[in-house]
Amino acid sequence: MKIILCGYMGSGKSSIGLRLAESAHFNFQDLDNFISKLDSRSIRDIFSESGEVYFRKLERQALEQLLLLEEDTVIALGGGTPCYGTNLDFILAQPDVQLIYLKADIGTLAERLQSNSTSRPLLSDLMTENVRTEFIAKHLFERSFYYEQAHHIVRVDSKTKEEVIRECTRLF
Ligand code: S3P
Repeated sequence: MKIILCGYMGSGKSSIGLRLAESAHFNFQDLDNFISKLDSRSIRDIFSESGEVYFRKLERQALEQLLLLEEDTVIALGGGTPCYGTNLDFILAQPDVQLIYLKADIGTLAERLQSNSTSRPLLSDLMTENVRTEFIAKHLFERSFYYEQAHHIVRVDSKTKEEVIRECTRLF
């Protein structure tokens, strides 16, 4: 079985995913880390040297590889993964896959992303707090259409990591 976490940047996919995997005795895979290893470059370097279209193609290849794994695995997607090409339909068509949307509101995301936006290629050029918040609000609005098609939605606002993990675990 695969438990797949989706959600906007800063929603906690990687940190929740790792701990959820530990508590369920599943393997853990972070799609961005897997892409970095495949291409031997950081996500930031892939974006700046080869561009986003190249990244999205690689992201699809990496997703296909991870979904072929036979072991029980928790997979943390990148924030954009379900929103490009046929990725979402591809994920939802897999047998034994449960897709969870870690849903955070704009306030939570803006606060979490203010401090580490420079390491995120899509946010790194946005200079002021107001510009970043406005970008996140519009981007989240566009992407929610995809995220909301997940099998399960878990709200993360004002919850501890433990509470979110417990809620995710209770789904299965
Ligand atoms: C992206 C999110 C990032 C990473 C890339 C693109 C996006 O992952 O895949 O920078 O399009 O939202 P995180 O959500 O783990 O930051």
